[in-house]
Amino acid sequence: MEYVVREEWTKHYADGKGFRQLGDRERALLAEHTPVPDGGGRALDVGCGTGGLSLYLASLGYEVDAVDFADSALDHARQDDPDAARVRWICMDIERDDPVDLCEDGYDLIVLRLVVPFFTDRTRILHGLGQRLRPGGALVVITPTAEATPEERRGIALDDDEITLIAGSWKTYEREDADGLAFLILREP
Ligand SMILES: C[S@@+](CC[C@H](N)C(=O)[O-])C[C@H]1O[C@@H](n2cnc3c(N)ncnc32)[C@H](O)[C@@H]1O
Repeated sequence: MEYVVREEWTKHYADGKGFRQLGDRERALLAEHTPVPDGGGRALDVGCGTGGLSLYLASLGYEVDAVDFADSALDHARQDDPDAARVRWICMDIERDDPVDLCEDGYDLIVLRLVVPFFTDRTRILHGLGQRLRPGGALVVITPTAEATPEERRGIALDDDEITLIAGSWKTYEREDADGLAFLILREP
């Protein structure tokens, strides 16, 4: 089953399709809540798709690792990043593959945009990513909410109970609205 899903994502990008573009409000919230630490920082964009968010984080000054399991998405991303200056594009399944390509020194920022609802085991994945945060670091989840999503597309969203479950294992939790998307900032797993 997992390979069918991965193939569907791969076909989506190979057909030239994308997703909701990164919005101005999301950009502003990232710059406000998770600025690059003094002396530089490293970010991880999980489920990066065609890489708009990764390139934005790089423009803020982060060194970025961008992970997706759809190689067609990463092909698009590399075309938009000809210099490959600050982003390492990594093809991997964050739920199943050996994380050997991730940075051993950890991350100041880990972002998951429009991807958490698709994980089969959210708690395990978010816990594991939390262990990769450097002291003072933040994990940001950007997601559609069930209340603002038509029933037939419920699978792309999280409801309040699911958000509460995710937030419950973190010492610090803030929630903002980004033009109808929930923007969750989690610190200290
Ligand atoms: C709705 S798209 C969002 C893409 C991007 N974050 C954005 O905001 O445009 C979800 C992405 O997550 C990727 N994805 C889903 N499950 C994944 C997994 N287990 N490992 C790596 N990437 C995954 C898909 O290939 C797809 O590119």
